Amino acid sequence: MSLQAIKYTDNQLHILDQLQLPFVEKYIPIRSAQDGWHAIKEMRVRGAPAIAIVAILSLAVELNELLAGGKLSPSSEEVGLFIIEKLHYLVTSRPTAVNLADAAQKFEHKVTEHVKTPGSTGQSLVTAYLQEAELMLVNDLSDNQNIGAWGAKWILERATSQGQTKVNVLTHCNTGSLATAGYGTALGVIRSLHSGNALNRVYCTETRPYNQGARLTAFELVHDKMPATLITDSMAAALLAKPESKVSAIVVGADRVAANGDTANKIGTYALAVLAKHHGVKFLVAAPRTTIDRGTKSGSGIIIEERASSEVTSIKGPLQGRVGDTLQMETIQLAATGIDVWNPAFDVTPAALIDAIITEKGVVEKGPDGSFHFDKLFDESD
Ligand code: MRU
Repeated sequence: MSLQAIKYTDNQLHILDQLQLPFVEKYIPIRSAQDGWHAIKEMRVRGAPAIAIVAILSLAVELNELLAGGKLSPSSEEVGLFIIEKLHYLVTSRPTAVNLADAAQKFEHKVTEHVKTPGSTGQSLVTAYLQEAELMLVNDLSDNQNIGAWGAKWILERATSQGQTKVNVLTHCNTGSLATAGYGTALGVIRSLHSGNALNRVYCTETRPYNQGARLTAFELVHDKMPATLITDSMAAALLAKPESKVSAIVVGADRVAANGDTANKIGTYALAVLAKHHGVKFLVAAPRTTIDRGTKSGSGIIIEERASSEVTSIKGPLQGRVGDTLQMETIQLAATGIDVWNPAFDVTPAALIDAIITEKGVVEKGPDGSFHFDKLFDESD
């Protein structure tokens, strides 16, 4: 059974509470856009594609509830304004991942178009919203499987030309089933290598300060029985320098890829890209096209979320005692009281350090001008 971060059936939405992983696998209900906003803000669900899907579905649940309870306005204009206001609110939960803003913008456009349709009603608008929202889960899963296949092929072609049939790769943060509708982006590439019997070993970084690697990626790798080794972020250089470790590629996800290929991803990604360049290791970004923000010219235009200093100064772990099935967490302070803290959740890796960007439509490499060009990935319907 593969892990599922998001469960949506019969208009009910449940998410796997990632604050309790890897200790307890507990699903919590999301009943409204407000619940969705809080779950995203508190990082009970995280990862660029997953937060976009949960945001849209949380509003779907609320709309369905209004419809079923007979509380929906018959006017499509009124319902349209309600939906758009909620979409704008949901976008304020986390700023860096573009998938959320992109999804909200696409839904806003569809709502506006539907309202203009002669004969549209509040009910017809909600029905259309629900149908479109459900598709997000299906599409994200198939996009990830395609990303996985493209990425594995790209890595293996280069490895086989050097006489290797199995590769070692390194990944950062969590980009797997827990960060998406399923399968994952960078972790999807690694899953594809594994299912093709081409993965010798994956190294995953702890990903301080929030430890998505140690808590979530390690959990997925153990769950799927992949040959995997956890390292702290500061060990990556030593690993690449070690002749026996033979890392073929570093594969990471993305929260926002600017039009020139500069990529915002989990803090620490940039450092890994610098290391990869120094050691001649391929550095790959795996992301669906919804993560490519053609409206932002370069990385300097990306807003980087800054999070609470407590994430850096302390560490959370489970208390021994549990109340029912809810895990009690304990916070242990690590840092000296009074120290100032800087806690950016993401950094921007310059396009110059990225060898290729793997999407569901194929792998994009830099052109002769040294820049990435994404236009051929998109058509008018996008
Ligand atoms: O702060 P997070 O855990 O939401 O950050 C997640 C990442 O940076 C991922 O690499 C990115 O969202 C891609 S997930 C497929």
